[in-house]
Formats: sequence, structure tokens, C-alpha cells
Amino acid sequence: MNTIPTHVALIMDGNGRWGKKRGLTRSEGHYAGTKAMEEIIDASTEQGVKILTLYAFSTENWKRPKDEVNYLMSLPIKFFNQKLPEFMRRNIKILISGDIEGLPKKTKKAVEKAMEKTRNNTGLIVNFALNYSSRSEILQAIYRILIDAKKNEISMDDLNEETFEKYLYTRGLPDPDIVIRTGGEKRVSNFLMWQSSESRLCFVDELFPDFSKELYIKAIKDQADDAITWEECAG
Ligand code: FPP
Repeated sequence: MNTIPTHVALIMDGNGRWGKKRGLTRSEGHYAGTKAMEEIIDASTEQGVKILTLYAFSTENWKRPKDEVNYLMSLPIKFFNQKLPEFMRRNIKILISGDIEGLPKKTKKAVEKAMEKTRNNTGLIVNFALNYSSRSEILQAIYRILIDAKKNEISMDDLNEETFEKYLYTRGLPDPDIVIRTGGEKRVSNFLMWQSSESRLCFVDELFPDFSKELYIKAIKDQADDAITWEECAG
């Protein structure tokens, strides 16, 4: 039996606390988180995961101090600038789930370029949830359905789960098999609420920068083991 999940979703929590614990800034924690994220991307290709969705910035995160928000918005620019050639070599496809229009101009440009460049790649899909909120995602879906209904492009009879999913940011992707959250908190935090209705939930105590490749592999392998409970999955 293949024990590797097709779609892994990850809430990368604990960067700020990790920085503080070391007398560093929260942004330095996010930098360390980006390094951990690179390891998780590597592990996902090695293990044969097909889709990795990473919660990189929620709509709630705009409320953080300006410096931190600016830093978080600069990360995709530096990251894609540096990593795109490698992603092309490794056949990795980048997707974004979230309100791209609400991003600063340079960040928007960087993520659009990453999506465009990797569009035809057929390997691991790395789907960044950026400026993402599950409630906003559902609302914008309803809004666009109403617009299409006005144009007679969809009718009430057509509306079902399958058609609804076509209006979500994650259109075309299968639901996650497992949602992992690092950093010790046992909450969903407005992440993939529609898509994770059948997903296994896995809460890990390690702060995200300490979430090693080994812990990640253990979590995704254990998810197929029906004998354990979700609380024990990375145990
Ligand atoms: C939550 O930790 C984490 C974030 C808000 C950002 C996560 C982003 C990355 C790991 C890198 C993203 C990189 C790219 C290229 C998109 P927190 O700061 O809320 O942790 P805390 O609970 O300790 O405060």
C-alpha cells in the first residue's frame, strides 16, 4: 500500500516564537522558517508527495507590525528570484491560493512570474496560500457564482460540490489527505476549511524552524496508519 499522501497541507506556525526564544527578531524567525520550508519541499519531492500546500500568509497577518508584514511580503520576491531556476530543473510547479490582487505590486509580480514560468512543469506542485483566508475564499466563490448566474453561465440546478470547487482558489487540486500544523496550537485558523472536511489533522509541538525533514516524513507516513489517532501522528 502506498503510504505517502497525495496532498499535504502545512500550517507553518511558530517562526516568531522561535526567533524570540533566541533573542532574535520575529523576521529572523521567518527567515529560519523559509529554510525549514525548503527542506520540506525537498522531502516532498523525495517522498513522492504530489501537492504541498503551504500556509505562508493569512489575511489576518496584515494586522502584524509593519516591519514584519514588509518582511513577509519581501520573502516571495527573494525566494522565487533565487529558487526559480532550481524549480525549473526539478520540474516543480508553483501555484498560489489566495487574493493575489491584494498583494504589494512587487510581490504580486514575483508570484505571477513563478506561476507563469513553472506552468508546464509536471512534478511536485507547491501551492502557496498567500493572502489567504478560507472564509474569504468561500465568499469570493459565492460572489463569482452569482456573477456567472446573472450572465446565465451557471444555474441553480448546476450548483453542487463539484461545480462549487471550481470557484475556489484550489480549483483542480484534490483535497488534502493531511493537514499538519507545527508550533503546538490545535486550531485550523481559517485554512482550507472546505477542502479539509475529510483530512487527517496532525498537530506537532515543534516550532516551524525546528520542524525537520525527519519529523515531516514521520508525520506523512504515519497518516496512513489507521491504528493511531491524529494526536499521535507525529508523536
Ligand atoms: C506563522 O508563524 C508563520 C507565518 C505567518 C509565515 C510563514 C512563512 C514562511 C515560513 C515563509 C514563507 C516564504 C515564502 C517564500 C512564501 P508565527 O510568526 O505566527 O509564529 P508565532 O506563533 O510564533 O508568532
